[in-house]
Amino acid sequence: MMGKWARLRSVSDVLLPMLLLPMMLVFSAACQRTRSLPSIEAAPVVSAESLATGAKLFAEHCARCHGVSGWGDGPEAQGTSKVRVQDLGDPVWQSNVSNDRLRAAILRGGPGVRKSAHMPAFPQLGRSRQELDGLVAHVRAMARTSP
Ligand code: HEC
Repeated sequence: MMGKWARLRSVSDVLLPMLLLPMMLVFSAACQRTRSLPSIEAAPVVSAESLATGAKLFAEHCARCHGVSGWGDGPEAQGTSKVRVQDLGDPVWQSNVSNDRLRAAILRGGPGVRKSAHMPAFPQLGRSRQELDGLVAHVRAMARTSP
């Protein structure tokens, strides 16, 4: 009886560290990755009203490809396997584009920023700087805090 219990305890003595160690490694790796995330340019300062308009514009013009969340899962993106829309939530991509670049991509379309012509131009969104910046702020709000 005693011998059996002793063996059981030693099994748990071995198993527990074997389970805990990889978990700790994964956790510390995740922490490091979060800490090393590149910084993202602050969104343009807009009124709550412009931000709401930006969200509306996104739903109207962009969600069909980029998805409601902006993370690249719109119905048209899923339909065509050849075209990959930009995942607007990708924090690394977010850190690599300025607000000016976002405005340019929206107004001039993909070819205007040396990207695919599958990204259309929306010159009409340049009529109101407030609304355009509301849209840019909405895109900034889509950034995920982990890759
Ligand atoms: C018909 C599909 C479609 C629609 C609609 C669309 N996009 Fe895109 N978008 C794309 C594709 C495809 C790309 C990827 C282009 C590439 O990587 O070459 C892209 C890329 C982008 C980029 C990245 C540009 C860069 O410089 O990296 C931004 C920003 C963007 N879209 C914003 C928007 C916004 C905002 C709207 C709405 C006003 C919108 N898109 C509407 C297809 C679309």
